[in-house]
Parts: sequence; structure tokens; C-alpha cells
Amino acid sequence: MHSERNIPRHVAIIMDGNGRWAQAQGKERIYGHMQGVESVRSALKAAVRNGVRYLTLYAFSTENWGRPAEEVNALMELLCDSVIRESPELQKQGVRVRIIGERSRMSEKVQAHLARIEKETSTGEQLTLLLAINYSSRSELTATMRRIAAEAKAGTIAPEEIGEQTIAQHLYTADIPDPDLIVRTSGECRLSNFLLWQAAYSEFYFTEVLWPDFNEEEFDRAIQAYQRRARRFGKLSDQ
Ligand code: IPE
Ligand code: IPE
Ligand code: MG
Repeated sequence: MHSERNIPRHVAIIMDGNGRWAQAQGKERIYGHMQGVESVRSALKAAVRNGVRYLTLYAFSTENWGRPAEEVNALMELLCDSVIRESPELQKQGVRVRIIGERSRMSEKVQAHLARIEKETSTGEQLTLLLAINYSSRSELTATMRRIAAEAKAGTIAPEEIGEQTIAQHLYTADIPDPDLIVRTSGECRLSNFLLWQAAYSEFYFTEVLWPDFNEEEFDRAIQAYQRRARRFGKLSDQ
């Protein structure tokens, strides 16, 4: 167990490396995604145990539609199966699920499953799990700007009133604190269109571990690395 001190309130994870994990064993990529669901379980458990209040998981990017249809379909199926199967356990753990991303491009079935898990877990108070599905930060920011422009045109907001808070409150993550820690597995050191606005002052933790090998111990390791960081927010350490 970690001390209560300096636990990141919000951890966001770019879950990467499923395909490579499977291929290294001569298996289909989807097998890696299936194993990745186990890692989601572990990460969630470790987040709750550590007292993290918000956990964001990047599950499917808008760019991921560009993968072969077979993989995209398998991922969507896996997503539906997982939310149905995990719902009772999530409720038991006090986890509230919220989806971030553009839903309209998903099938009716996927949309219905996502709406259902949000509803079933809506009273969870232990941890908010944000699932980023068909998410990309640039599309989020574009939608935000469109909505603010429409409000300005309608006269409900004056251009000079638009501040950073206005923008933050129009994002999918409205009312969610910015991530303190962003983790990416599989050795890639990039954001891949994830939380560009929200990550302004996040700490980054990159690990070579492939997502299907990520477990509670790896999560704790990321937290420990975070605890050694000095966050200055532009000021001096002793301020
Ligand atoms: C991450 O694993 C899961 C998704 C992007 C859906 P990948 O599928 O990207 O696995 P690699 O990076 O090809 O190994
Ligand atoms: C980022 O992983 C998206 C998710 C984890 C859902 P990718 O594997 O799609 O990212 P790139 O293509 O390597 O940047
Ligand atoms: Mg990848």
C-alpha cells in the first residue's frame, strides 16, 4: 500500500502493444486485445486501491477506424461483451463509467451498450472510469470550437467572455480534473491525439511493458514514479 500522500487524482492510460504481444506468440492480434481486457481489470483494481479518483483509458482512437475491418469489428464486439460482463463488478466496486468520444459513428448496438453501462454505474462514487472510444483530441477540440462559435453567433456568449474555463467546460471532460499522470505502454513515446488540451501540465510515464503484460504491480510502479516528480506549474519548487 502507498501512503495517502501525493496520489494522482486522475491517471490516464494509453493502452498500447496488444497486437505486438499477440504476434510475438504467433497469434492473431485480437488475442492480444482479449488479453488486454485482463489488464484493464488489473489497472482498475490498482487505481481503486491507490485512491485514484479518475481513470481514463484510451480504448479506440478515431484513427483506429483505419485498421482492417476485421480487427475493428472484433474490437467493437469485445467492447460490447466486456461492458456487459463487467457491469456487476463495476457497480460493486463503486465505479462510475463515462464515455468520452464521438458516439454517432458507432453502431446502434455499441451505442446502446455504452449508454447502458453509463446508466447502470451512474451512482458509483469510488472512482470515475472514463473510456475514450472513438476519441481524438483534435476532433474533441474542433467540436468544442464549433459549439462555442454557435453560442457566440446566437448571442449567448460574447467573444471576450470566452476563457480557458469556457473551453474546458465544452470538452468531453467537462467537470473532470486534468490528468495528473499519463501512462503509455509498449515503449511508444507519443500522445497519438490523446487529451492534448488536458495534458498541458500532466506528468508522463512511458514503459516498455506491452499492455497485456500490464498488471497491478506495473500500475504501482507508475504511481511511485509519479510520486518522485516535482511539479512546478511554472513556479519555483519552494514557492
Ligand atoms: C492497443 O494495442 C489497442 C488499440 C489501439 C485498440 P495495438 O492494437 O495498438 O497494438 P500494437 O501497437 O499494434 O502492438
Ligand atoms: C493509440 O494507440 C490509441 C489507443 C491506445 C486506443 P495506436 O496504436 O493506435 O497509436 P499509434 O498509431 O501507434 O500512434
Ligand atoms: Mg499500437
